[in-house]
Amino acid sequence: MRKRRILAVSALKGGVGKTTTAVNLAAACARAGRKVLLVDVDPQGCVGSSIGLDSETGLDAWLVGDAAFEEVVARESRPNLDVVVAGARLLAAEDQLREKGKEKRRHRLERRLGDLDGEGYDVVFLDCPPSASLLLENAWFAAHELILPAKLEPLSLPALERTKRFVAVIDADRPRPLRIDGVLPTFYDLRTHVSDETLEAIRERFTKILTPIRINSALAEAPRTGKTIYELDPSSRGAVDYALLAEDLGLA
Ligand SMILES: Nc1ncnc2c1ncn2[C@@H]1O[C@H](COP(=O)(O)OP(=O)(O)OP(=O)(O)O)[C@@H](O)[C@H]1O
Ligand SMILES: [Mg+2]
Repeated sequence: MRKRRILAVSALKGGVGKTTTAVNLAAACARAGRKVLLVDVDPQGCVGSSIGLDSETGLDAWLVGDAAFEEVVARESRPNLDVVVAGARLLAAEDQLREKGKEKRRHRLERRLGDLDGEGYDVVFLDCPPSASLLLENAWFAAHELILPAKLEPLSLPALERTKRFVAVIDADRPRPLRIDGVLPTFYDLRTHVSDETLEAIRERFTKILTPIRINSALAEAPRTGKTIYELDPSSRGAVDYALLAEDLGLA
């Protein structure tokens, strides 16, 4: 791969599979031989808990300059997959950032990631919080590309539209627009019409639709065991779907 890609996994809606996607897509890319960095930008801190990393410090300290990258990155947990957890004080860090001028406060993560050129990452995944916030803005200014997970249920369209409108707001201040890789249908249930009807409605509004992620009990189980889907059950639907998604995105 020529250039490092920075992808934000983001939607202005909770519980749609953002963290599941960030974690398992990162794991799929690492298995395919990419050097991957996964950063948790959500103060809920679910990335760390779902893959068994319980460090107290992470992005919180790195963002405000209280710690160097080397002090916050977990390198040993998986081959090819480095992780920066949210840290227990990410909300406080966001408050601290808010006191800076507009340019500085929105571009802090972009600058931090810009300092990592020597690390040789092929791809960086940012797991984003579910609502508009300064942290989300930081993620979107740092990212080149966006993946928009949409849970296949009736209320997913308004959330996608809301997200798209917010992308336009951020794009107005970016030198180049955020590239939307596509909507990622999640919780796809082959047995229900709701899934297909929602998918159809999304297709009518959005041109780029990524490989759907089927509903899968192993994907729901994995975070409780602190494992990625490839560690828990590499032959599960979830493992297959995220590997296909990695290929779809040209990352495997
Ligand atoms: N394809 C799937 N099949 C079954 N369960 C899933 C699937 N994807 C995610 N889940 C489960 O659904 C719940 C919500 O997923 P997840 O935490 O990834 O959503 P999120 O968008 O990151 O939520 P939040 O907005 O709170 O950050 C979790 O318990 C997760 O394990
Ligand atoms: Mg999440």
